[in-house]
Amino acid sequence: MRWGVLVGGTGSNLKAMLTSGFSVSLVISHKAGVKALEIARDYGLESCVLMPKDYPDRQAYDAALVEQLSRFGIERVAMAGFLRWLTPETIARYPGAIVNLHPSLLPAYPGLHAIERAFSDGVLWSGVTVHFVDEGHDTGPIVAQVPVPRLVGDALADFEERIHAAEHALYPQVLKALDRGQAALIDGRVEYKKENDQWMHGH
Ligand code: GAR
Repeated sequence: MRWGVLVGGTGSNLKAMLTSGFSVSLVISHKAGVKALEIARDYGLESCVLMPKDYPDRQAYDAALVEQLSRFGIERVAMAGFLRWLTPETIARYPGAIVNLHPSLLPAYPGLHAIERAFSDGVLWSGVTVHFVDEGHDTGPIVAQVPVPRLVGDALADFEERIHAAEHALYPQVLKALDRGQAALIDGRVEYKKENDQWMHGH
């Protein structure tokens, strides 16, 4: 499978994929000059920047996105810090083939600033979710989750660091499992192959 990764930030999850040996065929960023693009360059990956301001609306933006994905023969997409909602047309174009990483135990804390909001609510557990992307906002069928504790004395930075470490451990394993066909979206539900499915809990 040829995977594209959509980024927009520090690219720490892209880096985790690459250091784990997961093969990435294209990186697309919605921001210029971000660290994720440097990482793509360091690893000799094809990459491009699509800036929202260069397109009149979401449809035009996503048409350009799909054009790039098609040009590079991308069959599956992993979102990693790409903080834009895809249009229903884009999602329909890649059925069961787009996944997103989110820094909370969805359905808790969807949307932006999930870690900060969980921390300021004083939760003792939050975590990390990988889910298929649907038309809602962080609502798609959950593929894998791992819990992360907030420990006594944690500052927000400690909690954030622990959640990011959990992401870096979980996402590459899940992507490899999806690539091997160990789970798939069938009629809107995630079906797992029984053998060796511990990766869905981050083990
Ligand atoms: C990650 O923490 C990811 O969970 C979050 O963006 C960060 C990207 O970090 N995504 C979302 O909040 C999506 N709703 P990275 O650029 O270092 O990989």
